[in-house]
Amino acid sequence: MTRIKVLVTGGAGFIGGNFVQYMVNKYPDYDIVNLDLLTYAGDLTKHAGIESKDNYSFVKADIADRQAIMSLFEQEQFQYVIHFAAESHVDRSITDPGIFVQTNVLGTQVLLDAAKVYGITKFVHVSTDEVYGELDFDPQTFFTEDTPIQPNSPYSASKASSDLLVRAYHETYGLPVNITRCSNNYGPYHFPEKLIPLTISRVLNDQKVPVYGDGRNIRDWLHVWDHCSAIDLVMHEGINGEVYNIGGHNERTNLEVVKTIIRALHKSNDLIEFVKDRLGHDKRYAIDPTKLEQLGWQPTYTFDTGIEQTIAWYLEHKEWWEQILSGEYQNYFEKQYSI
Ligand code: NAD
Ligand code: DAU
Repeated sequence: MTRIKVLVTGGAGFIGGNFVQYMVNKYPDYDIVNLDLLTYAGDLTKHAGIESKDNYSFVKADIADRQAIMSLFEQEQFQYVIHFAAESHVDRSITDPGIFVQTNVLGTQVLLDAAKVYGITKFVHVSTDEVYGELDFDPQTFFTEDTPIQPNSPYSASKASSDLLVRAYHETYGLPVNITRCSNNYGPYHFPEKLIPLTISRVLNDQKVPVYGDGRNIRDWLHVWDHCSAIDLVMHEGINGEVYNIGGHNERTNLEVVKTIIRALHKSNDLIEFVKDRLGHDKRYAIDPTKLEQLGWQPTYTFDTGIEQTIAWYLEHKEWWEQILSGEYQNYFEKQYSI
């Protein structure tokens, strides 16, 4: 039987890394190729448990390197491309937008060209709810797949641009694609520049937690393993050309999230420090996942069960995040925050 080849871009990062492990373990008959540039956000130590498996391999490359990507596609003849690789942090996009355009827009276009030239069964473009812009605080309003694209940050503008290219390659060349737009993820191997792992690691070290503005902005949280099962379903069952929103109805204010973590770790709310707001800070995100549910997906975690699992994971994997905090991250943190 011919084996199915799956290219996962960004498989050394947070979500791509969890997805690679999910696929390698769930589908022994698929060959999973992890392509990643290993930027500050990527590391391979997380794959120690799978790297000796026959159905896993790693390629170090830049998705925007046309020559490298074209020759990899020629050599491997992938059936599936699951595209996670990106610059992903909103705050970094506010300080340095250029690399976001380079990787997220140009890099995606190179991958689309390669998929078009060499042929694929499905290209899944992993996008974000942030392309829809922001919602107000009316709890009855949600992002649907028909919500207009109105990105507000350089990060979300770069993701929206790549979404439009993916759509155009479907409309113009008939490339079989899906675009997924997921809400905020959390869970194992989340890089500690993002709110939840930043809070867990700082609270564990009795350090102040920076909360932007008044802390009332709302995010809709989804455990990363539920995101992985959603992408598995979309890659196999998604209708070509369709967009699928992914979310599990877990809206929380940032302050609620931080206080939940502080309470679970038996520390004091005195650790909270309100700091200058993020520029262009989106008020609220909330996903309507009906279309994906109709395809057969259900999340398995609530926010309460997911955050408990995640905190336990960070307690058990201190060596992973401590090694990140001790490196270049320290310079980033000092530039970003004055606390
Ligand atoms: P991440 O920053 O943790 O990981 C990104 C990975 O991409 C890293 O391993 C990095 O080395 C790699 N990468 C960066 N530039 C590259 C390049 N030029 N070539 C090859 N590899 C490169 O990101 P994440 O949080 O895991 O997000 C993954 C994807 O999911 C992104 O496309 C993001 O937009 C999307 N997304 C994230 C969330 C979230 O909450 N984190 C929610 C919805 C969608
Ligand atoms: O919605 C999906 C998006 O979620 C993804 O597309 C992005 O890649 C991902 O990074 C995430 O973006 P956010 O900006 O929502 O995540 P972040 O963890 O950076 O921030 C979550 C909220 O917490 C946001 O309202 C800003 C606030 N915040 C964040 C940090 C880092 C703070 O109050 N203090 C902080 O120190």
